[in-house]
Amino acid sequence: MKIAPSILSADIANLGRDVKRVEQAGADYLHIDVMDGNFVPNLSFGTNVVRQLRGQSYLTFDVHLMVEHPESWIDEFAAAGADIIGVHYEATPHIHRALRMIHEAGKKAELVICPGTSVAMITDLLSDVEQVLVMTVDPGFGGQHFLPSMIHKIKQLAEIKAQQGFAYEIEVDGGINDQTIAQCKQAGATIAVAGSFVYNHETPAIQIQKLKAV
Ligand code: DX5
Ligand code: ZN
Repeated sequence: MKIAPSILSADIANLGRDVKRVEQAGADYLHIDVMDGNFVPNLSFGTNVVRQLRGQSYLTFDVHLMVEHPESWIDEFAAAGADIIGVHYEATPHIHRALRMIHEAGKKAELVICPGTSVAMITDLLSDVEQVLVMTVDPGFGGQHFLPSMIHKIKQLAEIKAQQGFAYEIEVDGGINDQTIAQCKQAGATIAVAGSFVYNHETPAIQIQKLKAV
């Protein structure tokens, strides 16, 4: 499974160092959580953080937009250095347009669903995305508990992918540790985001190895 450490739980005063640490530890992606204090009750990073980190890291940047009307931000995050841009199904009435804008900006499109959204709501969009992100907590904060009731969505997405011959990656985000990642992997997830499990530890590299060993 690919591992995408989330810098939401990194030491922000030493962000460059913390990114290097996971890069050297074999992380596959860097997960960057963007929150607008509106779609989710928290604020986090803007385009400046993505741009500055871009100059320091070769990792694939997986930018998770937890913002209302993501259409307004896609071009700016693309220009700042995002490789994959994730937009929430719940964040705009025009989700297809948002996905198309990501492709027009030359980036990989990721469709994200909150715990309250079922796979049935997004089946018509699955042919147009490179990645689907199943939230396994309510978005907005790191360090929350994994919701096992989301696992069936991973299975559904894996089934549709096999039946239809789609190539999208299935990513999970929220409450991932060395136990919960095993359940997600078994259900068909291909990428796991991990914030607190990686960074709330003296040695992030050890934590990444634990996740990779599953
Ligand atoms: C939550 C974010 C997550 C968060 C995960 O809204 O989307 O990416 O950083 O943190 P953990 O791994 O601590 O649940
Ligand atoms: Zn995230």
